[in-house]
Amino acid sequence: MNYLEKLNNKKVLVTGGLGFVGHNLVKRLLHEFNCQVIVVDDCSNSKEEILGEDIQKVRFHKASVLDQDLMSELIEEVNIVFHLACKQISASGSDPKLDLQVNAQSTLEILEKIRHSKLPLLERFVYTSSCSVYGSYKNLPASEDGVTRVLSNYAATKLLGENYTMIYGSNYDIDVSCVRYSNVYGPGQSPTNPYCGVLGKFIHNALTKQPLTIIGDGEQTRDYSYIDDAVEATLLAAVHPRALNEVFNVGTSIETSVNELAEKISSMIPETTQTFIPERDIDNIRRRSVDIEKIHRKLGWNPQININRGLALTIEWYRKYLEV
Ligand SMILES: NC(=O)c1ccc[n+]([C@@H]2O[C@H](COP(=O)([O-])OP(=O)(O)OC[C@H]3O[C@@H](n4cnc5c(N)ncnc54)[C@H](O)[C@@H]3O)[C@@H](O)[C@H]2O)c1
Repeated sequence: MNYLEKLNNKKVLVTGGLGFVGHNLVKRLLHEFNCQVIVVDDCSNSKEEILGEDIQKVRFHKASVLDQDLMSELIEEVNIVFHLACKQISASGSDPKLDLQVNAQSTLEILEKIRHSKLPLLERFVYTSSCSVYGSYKNLPASEDGVTRVLSNYAATKLLGENYTMIYGSNYDIDVSCVRYSNVYGPGQSPTNPYCGVLGKFIHNALTKQPLTIIGDGEQTRDYSYIDDAVEATLLAAVHPRALNEVFNVGTSIETSVNELAEKISSMIPETTQTFIPERDIDNIRRRSVDIEKIHRKLGWNPQININRGLALTIEWYRKYLEV
């Protein structure tokens, strides 16, 4: 059965819907499933222009997810809530209270609203968590039932948001699911955004003839997920019956080191150079890869785009975006 068909014509709320993952999700909801989409985003890390003409097709509220009156009102209208709004990891240490409010408290408030209201339309609440909750995990790939070891404020507040989601799912009979993304990359990740990930920064630098800045020795690894794969997993989490009250890793189970990434990009973009700088406080996760057996077994999801293809597609998009 194609469970994604259940999305057809649904009314959905996407918080953080102008962000990197959010706007890609919104586009798919609009164009493939003809959804009525409501977006709440305060534009603290995004711009309306990212949606292009599609901004006319959504109901956009430039507002914070901490605006409880607005959120309460909107939740009553929709079939699915995708809660993506977040403070980024690199900002989480400098403003820890805001990080807590946006990543976790807003989640609690939405869930409280759902718990105390009769919401006949609401079918599912989806929370987007992060594989940073595993910290520096030694038994790779990390599986969902393994230990979490948070090493940043961001990981702590994402895990808290996830925990609230799962608690409300089991204690108050709310239909919820969570996805834990590993490093997501691809078209639409603005390279000028200060929180853009390493892959986007590398491509930007390579295309603009600047060196790729490698932090530390470059042997740290991550598990890179192409954006379309991450969006597909999120949609399945919203409709699949076997996603109910479950947490799923979203990744590839493949580790790619920063040096390997730099080499791959250098081979695709001629004359790329590299430079090394010392590690920062937040660079405390040496290796990462996540086990995707559960999401494959329960939801039938598999990543479709490998890193080489994903890099080629991303470079193509960046060339157009940067006009180089
Ligand atoms: N991109 C990744 O690699 C990755 C990895 C793990 C988890 N995630 C999770 O996926 C989700 C989306 O991440 P992303 O990469 O698209 O991030 P992003 O920063 O691009 O998008 C987040 C959006 O939330 C908005 N926002 C911030 N504070 C807000 C507030 N108070 N009210 C309303 N909107 C607010 C920002 O303006 C932005 O548009 C987040 O929950 C994040 O924790 C992403």
